[in-house]
Amino acid sequence: MKLQKNNRAVRTISGKVYMINQIKLPFKEEIFVPENYKETCKAVKTMVVRGAGSIGAAAGFAMMQAAFEAPKNNSKEFLLKVKTEIEETRPTARDLFAAVDRVFKKALISPEEAEKEAQKIADETSEAGRKIGEYGNELIKDGFGILTHCNAGPLALVEYGSALAPIIKAHQNGKNIIVYVDETRPRNQGAKLTAWELQKAGVPHVIIVDNAAGLLMQQGKIDIVITGADRIAANGDTANKIGTFEKAVLAKEFDIPFYIAAPDSTFDENCPAGHEIKIEERSENEILYVSGIDEKGKEKTIRIANPGSVAYNPAFDITPAKYISGFITSKGVVSVNNLQIKQ
Ligand code: MRU
Repeated sequence: MKLQKNNRAVRTISGKVYMINQIKLPFKEEIFVPENYKETCKAVKTMVVRGAGSIGAAAGFAMMQAAFEAPKNNSKEFLLKVKTEIEETRPTARDLFAAVDRVFKKALISPEEAEKEAQKIADETSEAGRKIGEYGNELIKDGFGILTHCNAGPLALVEYGSALAPIIKAHQNGKNIIVYVDETRPRNQGAKLTAWELQKAGVPHVIIVDNAAGLLMQQGKIDIVITGADRIAANGDTANKIGTFEKAVLAKEFDIPFYIAAPDSTFDENCPAGHEIKIEERSENEILYVSGIDEKGKEKTIRIANPGSVAYNPAFDITPAKYISGFITSKGVVSVNNLQIKQ
């Protein structure tokens, strides 16, 4: 896939923020340009930009915009208020908090320093994905069937991706692989975004419903599971898109290696264990309705659930460390026992 420097999932040029509008994909390729920090916050909340690493970069850019927008006389007070506002957009992804913290400190010096720091975060996130790809590629053998959940590709991590970086690298290295893409209800990030990215990269893939993974494992079609992460606690417990946990349990049952790919910014040394991770709850409408295009290419949202019923929509779950074979990081592949969280 070629999300080149000029076309990264999220980036800044001269204080302006550019992001690929992920809500429109895969049907339309559009760039969204939020005019101020409030619009960037809204883009994060509504998932115009999503995926832990890209959320982190976007949050850093929102803080940068706030630095430019701050009133001269009480800028610290303003920046502190904005910091909380950004943090409340999506509470689970650790990258968001790490980025906002870093850019906030620089924003207290000047908007230009804030911009440099925000861009640095986006660059670091991109580079981490590239390295994750190199290390993770070693785990993938010729002929492998690979299961992935949600979207942890270039869209989700600024440029190369986390879980998809090793997969795309393995394909580029000539390995014959097939990727089983969980559709990932309720928002279908797998069916829409991961499939779009894999198609662009020319990687053979097939979309499956979320509850097909058990059968495919039983049939011997899956050799490895790789997903991304939104927050990794100090003991290795990992928050990722709802449904990840059950895939990990199934993988253990069938003795299939289950790996989490993530940059340093996703590891949270201040969070001792998974039960401390705040799980975002999103609107029930994400479950009750689906969006797509009709046969004429017109965008449509339709209700698919019983009118009158309500829904409950936790966006993430926690996979206990005991189910995780290892973490693919920008420094190499490490097991839970060797996990040393340092930022
Ligand atoms: O709610 P989303 O779409 O932002 O959730 C995304 C995921 O769960 C990804 O797998 C995760 O962010 C890791 S990839 C950087």
